[in-house]
Amino acid sequence: MAATDLERFSSAEPEPRSLSLGGHVGFDSLPDQLVSKSVTQGFSFNILCVGETGIGKSTLMNTLFNTTFETEEASHHEECVRLRPQTYDLQESNVQLKLTIVDAVGFGDQINKDESYRPIVDYIDAQFENYLQEELKIRRSLFDYHDTRIHVCLYFITPTGHSLKSLDLVTMKKLDSKVNIIPIIAKADTISKSELHKFKIKIMGELVSNGVQIYQFPTDDEAVAEINAVMNAHLPFAVVGSTEEVKVGNKLVRARQYPWGVVQGECGVENENHCDFVKLREMLIRVNMEDLREQTHSRHYELYRRCKLEEMGFQDSDGDSQPFSLQETYEAKRKEFLSELQRKEEEMRQMFVNKVKETELELKEKERELHEKFEHLKRLHQEEKRKVEEKRRELEEETNAFNRRKAAVEALQSQALHATSQQPLRKDKDKKN
Ligand code: GTP
Ligand code: MG
Repeated sequence: MAATDLERFSSAEPEPRSLSLGGHVGFDSLPDQLVSKSVTQGFSFNILCVGETGIGKSTLMNTLFNTTFETEEASHHEECVRLRPQTYDLQESNVQLKLTIVDAVGFGDQINKDESYRPIVDYIDAQFENYLQEELKIRRSLFDYHDTRIHVCLYFITPTGHSLKSLDLVTMKKLDSKVNIIPIIAKADTISKSELHKFKIKIMGELVSNGVQIYQFPTDDEAVAEINAVMNAHLPFAVVGSTEEVKVGNKLVRARQYPWGVVQGECGVENENHCDFVKLREMLIRVNMEDLREQTHSRHYELYRRCKLEEMGFQDSDGDSQPFSLQETYEAKRKEFLSELQRKEEEMRQMFVNKVKETELELKEKERELHEKFEHLKRLHQEEKRKVEEKRRELEEETNAFNRRKAAVEALQSQALHATSQQPLRKDKDKKN
């Protein structure tokens, strides 16, 4: 379509007129059609549990969904934080729920916790990226796509009664633009009621002063505005988890039984006087599950998608400029990429040439050094040879002199011997005479 046609269609949009219908036509059943379609399709909901090992994550999940999920106890010896997702198909009445529970295994167990948040952030981003890739496909199948984006992060706070650990603050700060965070105080039965009240105020104060955005239950829908506003004031929820069923009166309730025989609360974990477990279940499952899914898509995923597309060079047009063209952006990006590639190639070639030159110089220097060494050794060798030669000559002269002396001595000796052998003969002659 020519640009002029585009402009004509986009600028000449008349105001719609309101008309009344003469009788019932049936499109008031649209909401029912929507519900029916959604029910057939089923829903997915993904929960991320972040909290230190053994804080009660699995127990709470089991208590929340009133079932027993497969759990594997984590050791305290994980080298780094590892994300473990497990997906279950659940059904209530005729509603199918594909529930994924993702555990941040080994969180808080490393000596150096500086990077503990990173695997969690990477996991959340990877789910956004998978969804974005599906959206960008020419043949996309979002209808039956298993959406693994994290809808809520339950952040388990250790019931110390003091203040938040810096690990908690840093992790929540890193996650707050990527996921809906609901902070909860775990094992709330280990802290007294008055301490708990002070602890809650302290936590909220610290979250606010550090600019950590936690999920706020929405108050724009009249039907739930009041309850959500009340519940927002109860955050962070203090929860107690239990999979044990204890007999209270003549009722079996989920509760914690202690050695001293005290059963937590009058009616176990569902006793609202003692803990906020019921509030959490109401807010998370019964009232705001759809809002959490909605917020994930419209706020967190939208932010990820915008940043990613901008990073890839796509831009929305502002009012005055030409409308956004995918083709042009692609061409521009391609040119930019090719010139960058060329620049890198040239840079690498230059680097290679320089390296070769450097190596050549080094080799030459080594050769010169070797040559010098050789000459030096040669000189030393000649010097040694000359000395040895001199020594040999001296020795030869000494030998000659010695031989001469030896010959002279031998001559003298033989003369002396001759002389002594002549003397007795002369004596005999003398006697005879
Ligand atoms: P990992 O998955 O190994 O990190 O542990 P987890 O966080 O899933 O903890 P899990 O639910 O396995 O619970 C660990 C221990 O804490 C178990 O002995 C639970 O019975 C106990 N526990 C769980 N919830 C509570 C609670 O609310 N109060 C108390 N006092 N103990 C709890
Ligand atoms: Mg567990």
